[in-house]
Amino acid sequence: MPEGRDQKIGPTAHYTAYVWRRLGLKHADLFATGTGAALFWSFRLAGEWVAAVAPGVPSMPQYLAQRHLAIDHALAQAAPDRVVELGAGLSRRGVTWALDHGVRYVEIDLPHMVEAKRARIPGDLRARLGGRLSHASHDVLADDFADALAAHLEGAERPAIVAEGLLGYFTREEQLKIARSIRQALAGRPRGEADAHATGVFLCDLRAAEGGRAIRVGANVLKAAIRLVTRGRGAREDFRDEADVRAFFAEAGFTEAEPVDLAEVPGAPRVPSPARVWRARVV
Ligand SMILES: C[S@@+](CC[C@H](N)C(=O)[O-])C[C@H]1O[C@@H](n2cnc3c(N)ncnc32)[C@H](O)[C@@H]1O
Repeated sequence: MPEGRDQKIGPTAHYTAYVWRRLGLKHADLFATGTGAALFWSFRLAGEWVAAVAPGVPSMPQYLAQRHLAIDHALAQAAPDRVVELGAGLSRRGVTWALDHGVRYVEIDLPHMVEAKRARIPGDLRARLGGRLSHASHDVLADDFADALAAHLEGAERPAIVAEGLLGYFTREEQLKIARSIRQALAGRPRGEADAHATGVFLCDLRAAEGGRAIRVGANVLKAAIRLVTRGRGAREDFRDEADVRAFFAEAGFTEAEPVDLAEVPGAPRVPSPARVWRARVV
């Protein structure tokens, strides 16, 4: 059902990929497209420059850098032996982990985006990746998504599932469905040792409405960008506060959920943001 609707989210992946390149992140050159450049500069001209120069209000690149680097940091801490990224879009993280960290990485997205991603990986790089990076088309809202995800995790001892810039597009009900599929895929795996790593980790960013003016202005800048880039598809409602986010994870069946502490994230811009990166587990 939602695939046609969710295809409208696709251009945001071009926008963020262009930002990853402007930030100088590793392997980001591969995925920066003309579409991404056009979206970035039209949004900058349409008014985002105000945030880029106003003190205390995060610009889109700062907001996105904070999110992206926080997920990278939490992923490094989890030391995964398999990563599955949902809504991976044109992110440079998969190539980075598969090539530089030697970790098996599966990138999941809708078919048109998977096709675009594959087309941007040249043959010599593909050979160097040695099969550690793969791409799969799935709708994360599909009823059988938990089973598909579990199959991608088979044999992993310390799996990590990442969803960056994805959940915010869905209603609470849809977010719960996705989170439950993830929990089911993580918790349903046969476990080796009963340690905190045994079921793996889920990393994602979620927006909460609490906070001061800077966060409200930041949230409005963000929502305006999303509406523009998604041709009106837009983002869905924010969580109320941290307690609301914790209740969400508990309802989805996760037993632990903590926001990543930005003070520990190297290079992350220290700007107020409506979004935080969360680390959830089933222990
Ligand atoms: C904002 S982009 C984020 C891309 C990437 N994670 C990043 O941060 O650069 C959201 C991605 O989610 C994908 N997506 C949207 N709806 C989806 C669905 N129902 N199933 C799978 N992927 C979906 C879009 O195609 C897009 O690539």
